[in-house]
Amino acid sequence: MDRLSAVPEALPEAQAGAGVGPGAVFLDASARRARELPGGPAAVPYPRGAATRPGDPGRALLHLEWQPHPAAAAPPAGRAWHVLGSAGAPLAAALRALGDTVAVHADAASAARHPTVLAPFLPYPGGAGAAGESGAALGALAVLKSWLAARGRTGARLVVVTRGAVAAATAEDVPDLAHAPLWGLVRSALAEHPDSFALLDVDGTRESWRALPAAVASGEPQQALREGVVRVPRLVAAPPAGTPEGSGFGPGSTVLVTGAAGALGGLVARHLVRAHGVRRLVLAGRSAADARLTSLAGELRRLGASAVAAGCDMTDRAALAALLTPAPGSPAVTAVVHCAGTVDDGVLTRLTPHRTAGVLAAKAGSARHLHELTQGLDLTAFVLFSSAAGVLGAPGRAHYAAASSFLDALAHHRRARGLPALSLAWGPWAQRGGMAGPLELHRSARAGILGLTPRRGLALLDAALGAGRPAVVPVRLDTARLHAAASDPARALLRSLTPAPAAACETPA
Ligand SMILES: NC(=O)c1ccc[n+]([C@@H]2O[C@H](COP(=O)([O-])OP(=O)(O)OC[C@H]3O[C@@H](n4cnc5c(N)ncnc54)[C@H](OP(=O)(O)O)[C@@H]3O)[C@@H](O)[C@H]2O)c1
Repeated sequence: MDRLSAVPEALPEAQAGAGVGPGAVFLDASARRARELPGGPAAVPYPRGAATRPGDPGRALLHLEWQPHPAAAAPPAGRAWHVLGSAGAPLAAALRALGDTVAVHADAASAARHPTVLAPFLPYPGGAGAAGESGAALGALAVLKSWLAARGRTGARLVVVTRGAVAAATAEDVPDLAHAPLWGLVRSALAEHPDSFALLDVDGTRESWRALPAAVASGEPQQALREGVVRVPRLVAAPPAGTPEGSGFGPGSTVLVTGAAGALGGLVARHLVRAHGVRRLVLAGRSAADARLTSLAGELRRLGASAVAAGCDMTDRAALAALLTPAPGSPAVTAVVHCAGTVDDGVLTRLTPHRTAGVLAAKAGSARHLHELTQGLDLTAFVLFSSAAGVLGAPGRAHYAAASSFLDALAHHRRARGLPALSLAWGPWAQRGGMAGPLELHRSARAGILGLTPRRGLALLDAALGAGRPAVVPVRLDTARLHAAASDPARALLRSLTPAPAAACETPA
């Protein structure tokens, strides 16, 4: 049954927000901030049936494929580059080695006088640094905001250059995890301010530095350079795994579900018990006394599982370490499903360090804690609830998108080390009480991203668990609408979905 059918047909104007590109995956009813978005408020009818529209190709398990892209013609040698910030020594050295000149600008005001400026965010020497992914994202946010202020209407473009901060192949590691959030952050900045930004990830090889001028000249919004080959991201249907993997969940599992008091945490916990035979669960929420947690634990016990409600602020590493330490005689956790997360909507220029750090800590910082604190455990599954916002960019949710792209990168990072990992960059779920309220579902449906019913969402989860990939994008797309509504940067991501590969996309739901 469509669980949304009871929602009023039309939303009050005061609750309605803007409809924007495909990144408009607003998952939270935060109408006040949503009105900050380009396009202004609009009264919109509720998308009756949007969650169940039959016959569309969107019941899809997609993934991001980085396809080789014909190299653009490089501008002639002897080029003059403009670099923002002093952190780009390796980049400046590589460009100078090509015979080019490099002017380093300390501030955006002087840099923005030039049409193309490179902003390097390269790995911190000696590791992630104390500030980690949050510090890197906050630093980048400040640069993006200062760039937008300085750029005005000049048309200048800031090319954010990272090295190893995104996986450009299924089996690729993401060695610079600290800068992984920049990909979701800048994708969202692009969705809000098309033409102001571009993203380029390099691998540090000599061939790639050599190919950089042509890549920058191409105007593609997102690229990776791997051994001199330009690769561009395209969403494609995830083919079934050659050898289906086990789900990693079963009667012998002890599963930690974070964010278990939330809408999807509860759904997944029930599904693990009913469909995967899981018999032991630790249901973590901010407070063990949360009525949603205690009632879920009671329900699961009635289904024959041993389920305990546990209070743990996931941003508190020591508390999480204690939670993961089994009581004498109790089994250790063998699988993790990380659903905790939060949103705090606002356009990029209004995001403060405090707001950004809060969203990153709940979703990304806690995922890193989980990764680090479970190193000694023999895990069979490590499932991260990420968001399509990180892949498509999300106007009004740049920090949330940043946290999501970190989760996707973390899954690659773990897989490259032989550890179990699956990051699911979910489209919105049509599930009452979750992050996607009716307004957000309407907005995203209008932009071509349809709500997932719980049944479809859980079927996609099962398909993803056996797909053998570190990161997938389970999302129902209305590709025709998506193409019509997409802003240019996101439309590039969708090129391989035209015409919609309906058969290939259908999941076994
Ligand atoms: N629902 C969707 O459409 C959708 C789409 C894409 C991705 N996702 C992802 O799926 C996950 C679950 O979504 P949902 O709809 O179930 O969201 P939800 O109902 O808001 O649940 C999220 C849960 O995370 C908990 N949480 C937040 N910060 C925490 C912290 N510091 N420590 C411990 N717990 C914390 C929240 O606790 P409180 O209740 O105490 O605040 C809440 O119970 C999220 O990570 C979200 O990003 C959801």
